[in-house]
Amino acid sequence: MPVNILAIETSCDETSASVLTGSTVLSNIISSQHFHTDYGGIVPELASREHIKCIDRIAEDAIKLSGLLRNELNLVCATQGPGLIGSLLTGFNFGKAFAIGQGIHFLGINHIEAHLYSCFIGQDEIEFPFIGLIVSGGHTILYLAEDYFTYKLLGETQDDAGGESFDKAAKMLGLGYPGGPEIDKLSLKGNEKFHNFPISNFKENIYDFSFSGIKTSLLYFLRKNYPDMKNIPVPDICASYQKAVTDALIEKTLLAAKNYNIRKIAVSGGVSANSRLRKEFLIETDFDVSFPKKEYSTDNAAMIGYLAYLKHTYGKINYSGFFSETSYSRLSKL
Ligand code: KG4
Ligand code: ZN
Repeated sequence: MPVNILAIETSCDETSASVLTGSTVLSNIISSQHFHTDYGGIVPELASREHIKCIDRIAEDAIKLSGLLRNELNLVCATQGPGLIGSLLTGFNFGKAFAIGQGIHFLGINHIEAHLYSCFIGQDEIEFPFIGLIVSGGHTILYLAEDYFTYKLLGETQDDAGGESFDKAAKMLGLGYPGGPEIDKLSLKGNEKFHNFPISNFKENIYDFSFSGIKTSLLYFLRKNYPDMKNIPVPDICASYQKAVTDALIEKTLLAAKNYNIRKIAVSGGVSANSRLRKEFLIETDFDVSFPKKEYSTDNAAMIGYLAYLKHTYGKINYSGFFSETSYSRLSKL
């Protein structure tokens, strides 16, 4: 019998539920909390309250849409971390309670690890070893994925995450939240050679990232050239800024791939939806670069369920390696 999974994701500002049978996604509902735009960023307390309001309805809809009956589910999983604690608690405890109610197994899932495998969903699985770049609103991490659940951390951001640098730049330019998609869209009409924004490098670890300097450099550039914040060439600035951020991501990832002599690269996390990042990576014919389908780039429960499927399939439910999620097997019927 295939494993039928209900997956829940509430680590940040998306309430999402998905049902999978084995590796196949039957439903994946994502409700984004657009009201954070009014505050220019996520307000954690409001995010948790919104998750509480809609998690049961979204989970119910995901089950209905999947065509499976509630009693055909045999595994529940939810994001355990990292994320906003109030938001995590909502989905995690909903998932646990659902599992207890149904008398089935529950598994806590690491959000970053789930992003890493999102490239596999509905596409060919990538053969190990591969270099994994995960860029989201909260993280920018480079891994060498040696095998299922076996990773070597190569580098990570020492300050802002890649997505965060887009969000902060968008806020300075008076664009909405999240900033990445807005900057991506406006960049299409801009000249990326308009201005050369600097990107920092680290001597200690060449694979570490830093994105806080570029944000400050944008602030000074705006103050110096447009003190009254009028007639700003927003598309040109977006395109130049996007070029700097994406070039830094591409450069370090390719460097790691070359130094470790690995051809396969998986790019995931919200920023993997960026059109320039995708285009420029795909120009690199010496490497085989994979991206998640667009619907699995930004936060979604299907990727949480997919990792639970992998853990179930490859017998790693009690895994304790680099990622430190806990699995709850007391109610297991599997
Ligand atoms: O993975 P994700 O949905 O949530 C976290 O785990 O943080 O990533 C959200 C981040 C935001 O910072 C958002 O601005 C960025 O991904 N993002 C993009 C694009 N779409 C989303 N950044 C650049 N270009 C995009 N098209
Ligand atoms: Zn994420």
